[in-house]
Amino acid sequence: MISHLEGLEKDNTGYNLPGLLAGSEGTLAILTQARIRLHPTPGNRCVAMVAFPSVADAVEATAALRRSLPDLHAIEVIFRNAMLLVSDHIGVSIPTGTAAEAWLLLEVAGQGDSTESLGNAIQGLKSPVIDVAVAEDTATQRNLWEFREKITEAIATQGTPHKLDVTLAASRLAQFVEGVPKIVSDIDEKATTLMFGHLGDGNVHVNILGGNASKVDSSIDIAVLAYTASLGGSISAEHGIGTAKRDLLHLNRSTSELAVFRSIKQALDPTNILNPNALIPEENL
Ligand code: LAC
Ligand code: ZN
Repeated sequence: MISHLEGLEKDNTGYNLPGLLAGSEGTLAILTQARIRLHPTPGNRCVAMVAFPSVADAVEATAALRRSLPDLHAIEVIFRNAMLLVSDHIGVSIPTGTAAEAWLLLEVAGQGDSTESLGNAIQGLKSPVIDVAVAEDTATQRNLWEFREKITEAIATQGTPHKLDVTLAASRLAQFVEGVPKIVSDIDEKATTLMFGHLGDGNVHVNILGGNASKVDSSIDIAVLAYTASLGGSISAEHGIGTAKRDLLHLNRSTSELAVFRSIKQALDPTNILNPNALIPEENL
């Protein structure tokens, strides 16, 4: 039993065990307590959906918006295939810029006038914008958020997708989003690639639905994740490695790093009883 819950702003007293254990996917410890930091309730909220002619334009705008909007709470992205599907699923037409390649869903919440600061920031963008929809009241804001929040549900109505969860640096993100559908269709020409995610973090959720479901096998996952790693990206942004991706961990982690992982695992769970098949690859990988 170990505990380190003081919650101090500065604390350089050796290894950061809470970070290590919390990020271990249950392979090093069972967490029984956490300290949670509370923030003041944000003031007035404003939500906007902005339509861009290209992925690169959306990426460039994201960097600019992060700089100009200190109260920015969300920069979510919906790429074209996902937007078409979710719009069909919820039975509501695309709110703005039907011909766009990428839509950003932005939320600002602060003590000042969020509508004014969001409007000014969008107007100040250098990247081309097709159109904007702004929501000031809660009902309209909820309607705009539906387009992002219902994507997973919309995809599930079409079959069982392969789900990949990657991060790219901003400089590689447009290349990735444009390259993935080609990689997928080279393996299964009937498969469809749907992408969305948290653009503020460079985090893209890649969902692949098979035209021929039997062909959407792990070769597509391996090809997309190898492509991700070749662009310097992470093969697991937020969902973790688990059992499904542990044998691909070498795409992101060196042999030396994996040796350190094994040493830590051995030190904290010598009999391998904590989530035994997750995260750490088989010995020969
Ligand atoms: C999301 C989940 C898939 O962002 O992480 O909707
Ligand atoms: Zn996510």
